[in-house]
This record gives sequence, C-alpha cells and structure tokens, in this order.
Amino acid sequence: MTRAQTHIQAMAPYALADLSSPERVPLISLSQNESLRSPSPLAIEAATHALADSALYPDPDWTNLRTALGQHHRLDPKNILCGNGSLDLISCLARCFAGPDRAVLAPAHAYPFFRTVAQMSNAPFHTAPEIEATASVDALLRTVRRETGLLFIANPGNPTGTRIPISELKRLRAALRDDILLVIDEAYGEFADHLGERVFDMVTGGNTVVLRTFSKAYGLAGCRVGWGVFPINIAIELRKIMNPNSLTTMSEAAAMAALNDDAYMRETCSRTIELRDGAAARLQKAGYKIYPSFTNFLLIDLETPAEAIRIDHILRGKGIFLRPQDGAGLPHCLRMTVGPSEHMEKALEILEAEKRAAT
Ligand SMILES: Cc1ncc(COP(=O)(O)O)c(C=O)c1O
Repeated sequence: MTRAQTHIQAMAPYALADLSSPERVPLISLSQNESLRSPSPLAIEAATHALADSALYPDPDWTNLRTALGQHHRLDPKNILCGNGSLDLISCLARCFAGPDRAVLAPAHAYPFFRTVAQMSNAPFHTAPEIEATASVDALLRTVRRETGLLFIANPGNPTGTRIPISELKRLRAALRDDILLVIDEAYGEFADHLGERVFDMVTGGNTVVLRTFSKAYGLAGCRVGWGVFPINIAIELRKIMNPNSLTTMSEAAAMAALNDDAYMRETCSRTIELRDGAAARLQKAGYKIYPSFTNFLLIDLETPAEAIRIDHILRGKGIFLRPQDGAGLPHCLRMTVGPSEHMEKALEILEAEKRAAT
C-alpha cells in the first residue's frame, strides 16, 4: 500500500474552528478572528471587475500589488512577496528554512500553525515559556539550541493578543545567531499601527522577515492575500518553491483597492478597538480575567480547563462559537473575536449571567 512519509502520517490535521451549530440555531461565529464588517465597497467592485479578466492566468509577480504596497509602506517592491494568505508564506518559509537538522522555535502559546509547518518539514519544534501570555525574549534566547534554524513570533500574538515592543524584537534579533531566520508575523499589525512601532526596517539586517495579511483589518480573509517583507536573498530562495500563481486576479484587485481605501480600514480598526475595549471592561467588571489585547480578539481566562469547556458548551448551545485554546497550550482559556456589536452583546450577556450565577 502507498503511504505518506512517516512524519506526515504522524501529523494531526490542522485544527480549524468547529462550527457545527445545533439545528435551527443561527450561527454566530466569534471564533476565527475575521473582520467585524465586509471589505471596502471599492474592493468588492474591483474584484467583480477583475473577474472579466479571469480567462488569463494572473500576474505571477503581483506587480501592481507590490508596487502599491511599496508606496503605501515606503518599501522597495523588490523586497515584497505575496502569498495565498500569510499561511502560504509561513509554509514556504518552513519548507525553505526548517528540516530534521534545523529546528523551529516559537513562544509557548504561539499561533499553532507554526508547529504544523515544523511538522510538515519534519523539523523539531521547541517552545519558550511566556510570562502572563506574553512572549519573553530572555526565555526565547535561553531556549535557542545549536540546531535552531527558524524562530517564529507573532506580534501581536494569536491567541494571546499580547505584544512586545520593537525594542524587545531588536534585542532578540541582536542576540540571536546570524544564521537563525527570525520571522515576525504581524497578522494583526494594523490594530497596533497607532503605536507607531515600524518593524519592516528590521528586514535590512538580512535575516529577518516581516509578514502581514489582508485577512484581518482589511476584511479579506476569503480572498487569501498575505504579503511580507523579505531580504532579497531569502525572497530568491522562497520564489523557487512558491506556487507560481498564488493569488487570483480577483484577490489581487481586491487587495489593491482595499489598500487604497485606507480610511475604510482605519475605521474598521477603530470600531474594532472600541468594541474590544468595551467588551474587555464588561468582562473584567463581571469578574473574568482578560489578557491585554492589541488585536481584534480577546483571550478570556476561565481559570480551569473544565470551566472553559463548560462555558464553551453553554455558548455553543445558543449558537455562539468562541475558540477553545488547547492547541495553543491554554486549555483554561477561550478566545473571542470582536464581531458585530449585536453578536458581541449576545455573547457578553451570557458570560455575565454565568458569572452572576456562579457567585
Ligand atoms: C498570527 C497569524 N498568522 C497568520 C494567520 C493566517 O492569516 P492568513 O489569512 O493571511 O493566511 C493568522 C490567522 O488567523 C494568524 O492569527
């Protein structure tokens, strides 16, 4: 019988959100860190127009999008690569830079896909302890081993929502061996842009990559457009293994139009932050522990795994889906994406009532 390679057989499939809703209960998903509103109407219009060109293959170099991203973020388009979501870029980076003798390192409660791509590359995966669900540069540096080849850090983190300042990222880079590739995943970067900490320039050192996505603040998760800033030598290697047509013509058009509608994206971020902080205050007042969030979601600490399962069960029974976090080593937590206010209201009322009933 034909069998996959042994390390692939040993892998579990990547766990996406379980959205199996009870019959006839309308589904409210606050589980996948999607945007609380549709993409810019300009993006919808651009993608619709682009469909007319889809008898032709897309531009394999994403020329228009790279140029626009370069202008928008003051970057050289030569350093920019786009992917079918940042998941695509994360996978390609692991395929290039991780393997049986090149281990992957990440913070203990990192985005679980980092572990998955290490497994795909048959690379050892190591984690460094966090402090209060926040990455620790000292712990990461202590955990580096001779065989470490790739370090992934999402900043802000998912599912933690916490972040470390750029001074800490620079301290990490300066203390890491030169041959270790540092990948800073800024999937939620737009929600923290107001802090004015621009990380892209770290790429000039030659061994750091910064990733971003249109899936969150731009509301284009379904279009699958990720992008990143890469040192040229790394971009050259990555291009060799990338799917040569990773974006569709429609996705590229949507992303370009969304990028040009900066006011719309900023409005999405400020609405999200307002709802997020309001929800955090209510939950804290009710007696829940909430981690500081710089993203479009909140991490709620339910103290024990049993309580997290109980609350998740109650919410699911009413069609409301938060995301359990056993996969990220936080089985006592649930992650709540900031969704439309009426959805948030339903979830918050149930959570508040549960706390009242328990006291
Ligand atoms: C930290 C992090 N990186 C990457 C991704 C994947 O994003 P994309 O939709 O661009 O593939 C996510 C999605 O939730 C994420 O949280």
